[in-house]
Amino acid sequence: MAKQIKLSACDIKEKYHTLIENPEMLDYGIYLQCDKLLDCQKPIKDLATADEMQFQIVHQVEELWMKLICFTLVDIIGYMALQKHHRVITLFSRVNKLQRLMTDQLDVLETMSPKEYQQIRLQLGNGSGQESPGFKILVQMPEDIWSTFHEHYLENGKISVEQIYDEDYTHDHKYAVAEALTEFDEQLQLFRTRHLFLIHRSIGLGSKSLKGRPVELLQKGAAKRFFPALWDVRNAMTDKWGGEYGKVRASISGKS
Ligand code: HEM
Repeated sequence: MAKQIKLSACDIKEKYHTLIENPEMLDYGIYLQCDKLLDCQKPIKDLATADEMQFQIVHQVEELWMKLICFTLVDIIGYMALQKHHRVITLFSRVNKLQRLMTDQLDVLETMSPKEYQQIRLQLGNGSGQESPGFKILVQMPEDIWSTFHEHYLENGKISVEQIYDEDYTHDHKYAVAEALTEFDEQLQLFRTRHLFLIHRSIGLGSKSLKGRPVELLQKGAAKRFFPALWDVRNAMTDKWGGEYGKVRASISGKS
């Protein structure tokens, strides 16, 4: 029996780093263009710290999800105009799952120590998430989604959001699509809120470079509602329904 040569940790590292950087391309890899995809990260020898690999990959994966979200939203707008409600709901469900993935994936970056992030930060130049190509397109899209909803579901203002949610409520397709829009808005803002905590945890929100404008802008961004009418209707309903019973409701137990 051939004697097995035991590789040292150093040899193992070299072996796998070489394999990782020169993967074998069969049909699967060729179809998915894995050669290009896996060449989008810094060469291992140039990484500022081992954590830089995950930093780049998480950001790149997020860009890919945003590309798919924006592409799907274009289809959604088309199906809204065609009144293909089931397709609209199914595709919004896909978008909402992708948005959840985007938010969950921010967790990965919290395995990076604040010190290692400082070392990576020095590599970024003036780069900032505000320049994210995917996000810049994504935040433009709610305006077009809303104008399509207004034209085809609110019939250019002939039907009000209040009618759909309260006065003429039947849980119909208009309501289901409106709730899909609300979910989209909520998930977008949950991403922004979660991202604020990521910053808090990695570089702090009170550092000199962030104090003032950048943090205020991020907080303002996270508080924004893209479809305010869909949120306001809930306030209006609570005021209206509460109004019938008075501002202080009768206690059920008789104790409070
Ligand atoms: C440790 C990780 C991260 C840190 C420390 C960080 C930090 C920051 C900071 C400080 C800003 C404000 C702009 C500025 O002043 O530069 C920002 C904006 C932004 N970042 Fe990050 N970020 C991180 C990860 C991510 C990831 C993974 C994404 C994924 C897409 C991302 C997307 C964005 C976006 C879209 C903005 C603009 C936000 C808005 O307009 O609401 N960031 N980030």
